[in-house]
Amino acid sequence: MQHGKLITFEGIDGAGKSTHLAWLASFLRDKGLEVIVTREPGGTALGEQLRQLLLDHRQAMHAETEALLMFAARREHLDKVILPALERGAWVVSDRFTDASFAYQGGGRGVPLARLEILEQWVQGNFSPDLTLYFDVPVTISRQRLQSVRTADRFEQEPDPFFERVRQAYLQRASQFPERIRVVDSSLPLAEVKTAVAEIVEEFWSSYAPSR
Ligand code: TYD
Repeated sequence: MQHGKLITFEGIDGAGKSTHLAWLASFLRDKGLEVIVTREPGGTALGEQLRQLLLDHRQAMHAETEALLMFAARREHLDKVILPALERGAWVVSDRFTDASFAYQGGGRGVPLARLEILEQWVQGNFSPDLTLYFDVPVTISRQRLQSVRTADRFEQEPDPFFERVRQAYLQRASQFPERIRVVDSSLPLAEVKTAVAEIVEEFWSSYAPSR
């Protein structure tokens, strides 16, 4: 039995999701909810170790190895963190989830979608987030935002065409699941993006609040 909700944040590297993720967590806490903020790959002790391997720019790997490790970390994350939290009524906010595997490993690396769907079915069955905010931004803008941060990880070091493919795969996912995935134009000034996020979240909240 699932009582809580899972909300995920997605976007290419440099799309600017972090600020809004923190805002959402405090919005939900203000409603008196227990809120778990987590991330993928990661969120568990083993998952964080897998994350280190996956993001290490010195660690080359086959695209399917990468996909398998992402789903291995996710299996652990669901078992140890996400599902227990939802069962006790907590709301979970995750910085990335399965849509990232379809965008990065599928769109970016070219792993066939049918293979990713097999992993998805294996690891999570029909479980999926209740709401996903996808922060859409052109690659030129995300690049400028990334330049100010620390050394680029293995994904951030990829060339622009990789991120173009990742972005297109995210947009394709958003049109495939229009009810769940809400697209936020993240190229707008921060204040406007904040307003757009707040509108989506308020609307989502009001559709659940009456049953609480
Ligand atoms: P990211 O979420 O951008 O964290 P940070 O802000 O610390 O850089 O880093 C995670 C990276 O992992 C990001 O480049 C996307 C990638 N990723 C995948 O390729 N597939 C996945 O399934 C997930 C969850 C993440």
